[in-house]
Amino acid sequence: MASETTRIGILGSGNVGQQLGRGLAKHGYAVMLGSREPAKLDGWKASTPGSVATGTFAAAAEFGEILILATSGAATESAIDLAGPSNFAGKLLLDVTNPLDFGSGMPPGLFVGTTDSLGERVQRKLPTAKVVKCFNTMSNTRMIDPQFRDGAPPMFICGNDPESKARATQLVREVGWPGTFDVGGIDGARWLEALVPLWMRVGRSLGTYEHAFSVVR
Ligand SMILES: NC(=O)c1ccc[n+]([C@@H]2O[C@H](COP(=O)([O-])OP(=O)(O)OC[C@H]3O[C@@H](n4cnc5c(N)ncnc54)[C@H](OP(=O)(O)O)[C@@H]3O)[C@@H](O)[C@H]2O)c1
Repeated sequence: MASETTRIGILGSGNVGQQLGRGLAKHGYAVMLGSREPAKLDGWKASTPGSVATGTFAAAAEFGEILILATSGAATESAIDLAGPSNFAGKLLLDVTNPLDFGSGMPPGLFVGTTDSLGERVQRKLPTAKVVKCFNTMSNTRMIDPQFRDGAPPMFICGNDPESKARATQLVREVGWPGTFDVGGIDGARWLEALVPLWMRVGRSLGTYEHAFSVVR
């Protein structure tokens, strides 16, 4: 169980923000969920046990010792501007976002990739934040206390700071994963983000989106 004094600010009011907020509160963290319209989260707050609060993106970013980015990919940099880049200085930032491009319908492509990534854009925009790409390669319904028929695999992560990746791994274990699979620096986000259009294509074949990728040898 995590220390109740560890505060997590989540930027994002969608399914990901709500699931992570509920799950992290269940596992003992103090959580604030951020939105441009915090009032729309009143129902979430009332129905979520534990230490939970809601606020603006800036309030959540100021509140958290650890921050989570769970905003729409295309809006992520605007959301950071609203949150106030100085609120990220020196903090672990778990980046769950994906640069999905639905311009040609389903399944999506990516609006940045191969030679750059949204994770790298976020790291460049917030040079003193310790960005760890994390939780971006599975459904929000499997992020906390994950149930998979074949067992939960290690979660793919990447980032530039080894201590931050160790802290991210601790958090991931606390919420039920067996650990992490570290694919290197934040440039690895090019490939963790690229897994997601593949993940959606696999889901279309399976007829369900309850899967995750695993490494076997
Ligand atoms: N859905 C999943 O299962 C899943 C799994 C893994 C990763 N992801 C990634 O996680 C992220 C969040 O996904 P989601 O499905 O929870 O929600 P989403 O609909 O992709 O994003 C919702 C959030 O984006 C913010 N937003 C939208 N337009 C904005 C703008 N113009 N300026 C500032 N903020 C804006 C919203 O702000 P307001 O609160 O103000 O409305 C809200 O907080 C995405 O990048 C997605 O690719 C999703």
